[in-house]
Amino acid sequence: MKVLYVSSEALPFAASGGLADVAGSLPQALKNRKVNCRVVMPLYGTISDEMRASMTFITSIMVPVSWRRQYCGVFEAKAGGVVYYLIDNEYYFKRNTLYGHYDDGERFAFFSRAVLEILPYIDFKPDIIHCNDWQSALVPVYYSTMYANREGYTGIKTVLTIHNIQYQGIYGKEILGDVFGIGEENSSLLEFGDCINLMKGGIECSNRVTTVSNTYAGEILDPWFSHGLHPILKERSYKLSGILNGIDVKNYDPETDNNIFANYNAKDFSGKYKNKAALQEIFGLPVREDVPVIGIVSRLVAHKGFDLIKKIMWELLDSSDMQLVVLGSGDWEYEAFFKEIAAAFPSKVGLRVGFIPDLARKIYAGSDLFLMPSKSEPCGLSQMVALRYGTIPIVRETGGLKDTITDSGDGKGNGFTFKSYDAYDMLDAIRRALSAYSDKKKWNTLVTRALKCDNSWGRSAREYIRLYESM
Ligand code: GLC
Repeated sequence: MKVLYVSSEALPFAASGGLADVAGSLPQALKNRKVNCRVVMPLYGTISDEMRASMTFITSIMVPVSWRRQYCGVFEAKAGGVVYYLIDNEYYFKRNTLYGHYDDGERFAFFSRAVLEILPYIDFKPDIIHCNDWQSALVPVYYSTMYANREGYTGIKTVLTIHNIQYQGIYGKEILGDVFGIGEENSSLLEFGDCINLMKGGIECSNRVTTVSNTYAGEILDPWFSHGLHPILKERSYKLSGILNGIDVKNYDPETDNNIFANYNAKDFSGKYKNKAALQEIFGLPVREDVPVIGIVSRLVAHKGFDLIKKIMWELLDSSDMQLVVLGSGDWEYEAFFKEIAAAFPSKVGLRVGFIPDLARKIYAGSDLFLMPSKSEPCGLSQMVALRYGTIPIVRETGGLKDTITDSGDGKGNGFTFKSYDAYDMLDAIRRALSAYSDKKKWNTLVTRALKCDNSWGRSAREYIRLYESM
């Protein structure tokens, strides 16, 4: 079986969020299970010269973007044994950020057209084209309206995976013909709420729609989570399912990770406490093993639950012997809040504003607890990475957080959870976690259980293969 996996970002080449982790590891897991999976993504200007040096130029073609004809270079690279095709066009992709440009619609329409146009030139006719999020949601639209009956293109099936329904690719109607090159006769596929909605088009036109956890697949049928798209998803629920992501357990492995201060595993995690001491030192906090450290590594945005944290953190710090270590960047409001509490509680709060991957690993390894109270979380990878490093997650029961973390109150779970989006329910979960830390023996049992959790890609890859086969 041949699968072309289409993503607007993939590690190790370019990343802005969890999608890059998935596109950098699921294809490899599929490949290990005998699926011939290749990936296609844009060749961004941010990709290093070193990485470019390892790419081979395959060909260049002209790609239609409505009435425009745009240059499209095709490069090939290998990562983790998987073939990646990189689509080159400096006008569209030589910019200093991946998204957020005035012409994102045109950029990703070009990319989506290019994915289909390059097929005859890369000598790879996929059985399945697997797209991700709004940036490649036009691929199924173009396929079903323009390519399905073309010679060399017949019989391909399409999948669209929704990693976060909040981002839909919404544009004014005038763009449909002039930029997307889609005629009036097909406008109903993309029109939604008096706009053009690329995610909606992808849902309508792809053969299957998936999201990154089972719980989220149910949640997005509800207006509280759907950002407006629930009527469409309900209508198409017969083709909707959820497949939980995995994590790259080789990349995230406390036994071999050389970004951390001491390696450890489930049998002997004394090294974890060396990481804790070093982490406390980095953040200028008193080095004490007896005080629980709560870590936060996140984009500082509302849907990650920071308004809950804002509400109770002052009270919590004031009343508890604990430490908080925060790494993240995002909304000014939350950055300012963390700066304020770091100044008010210098011996309890450590803060770095930014996106620093190797420091993130030191926090995963050196913290005792990991706080992730998201308002919504399609899957969430950090809670799985935290578990992998024996750090106990405190999460809200939503989306993938609900599917990966269960409360340890019954002596079986792997974390601390709360249900409603309520600051005091979260506070209760945090207090239970802090008090659990004081019982060393029980705590070590919990850490061992966390270290033994298996969130590798095997199970998910098998579910994707089952889905592909059913198509
Ligand atoms: C998005 C979601 C996140 C998920 C990731 C990978 O970033 O917000 O929950 O883990 O995609 O699927």
